Amino acid sequence: MKSPIVAANWKMNLTIEEGLDLVKQVLDGSSSDGSEIIFFPPSIALSAIGGVLKNTDYKVGIQNIHHEKSGAYTGEISAEMVKFLYVQYAIIGHSERRQYFFETDAQINGKIKSALSANLCPVVCVGESLPERQSGKTNEILKKQLMSALKDIDNISDRLVIAYEPVWAIGTGKSADLNQVYDAHNFINEILQSRFKNHTPILYGGSVKAENASELCQIKNVDGFLIGGASLQSESFCQIIKNVT
Ligand code: 13P
Repeated sequence: MKSPIVAANWKMNLTIEEGLDLVKQVLDGSSSDGSEIIFFPPSIALSAIGGVLKNTDYKVGIQNIHHEKSGAYTGEISAEMVKFLYVQYAIIGHSERRQYFFETDAQINGKIKSALSANLCPVVCVGESLPERQSGKTNEILKKQLMSALKDIDNISDRLVIAYEPVWAIGTGKSADLNQVYDAHNFINEILQSRFKNHTPILYGGSVKAENASELCQIKNVDGFLIGGASLQSESFCQIIKNVT
């Protein structure tokens, strides 16, 4: 594994002040040596948190972007706009965006292209639902999501991260088991290897906690984590960083 990635997806949680407090506690309570630590706060906090992190090795990313550079899209934010805020990453295609905001594969493909053209690194989420897993369709879904997300994208020049997040493991306290993670990451890696020359990092997300992080990060092709709930408290997030590094 290159430097493992430990990414905090705060989702729609924490005020700017609470976020700044949390970031300060994580800076005091952890070391970024040997790992890439990324915070994904709500967009309203990007400027403040980017300002604190810009002189550190810790990174900041946005949870979602629009696929156009600018235009009449009320309420939306483009990759071009946030790259000036020390933002280096963009989560794209999170299952909550697919489920609650009806994001399509075509939109996700457009967002990835937009992130790449603004020099942001897309963190592209893929993952099956419980009925899809139970009916043996996990690989079919992963392949479909990956192929459509990466359609007509050939030159990523080391700027792409994939996150495998089984929908049924997100926020449920029930992480995928070690075999399920091994199989999914292996399958995703095969697809990526056939598309791109360099190894593309693959993160696991879904009920990652301090207690399961050490075991999960030893699995082949697991290059780090995208963490929701456990990233909202400095103790648990710092413990995960320690366990991973
Ligand atoms: P939890 O860690 O809360 O399961 O959330 C995972 C996730 O959705 C990260 O993007």
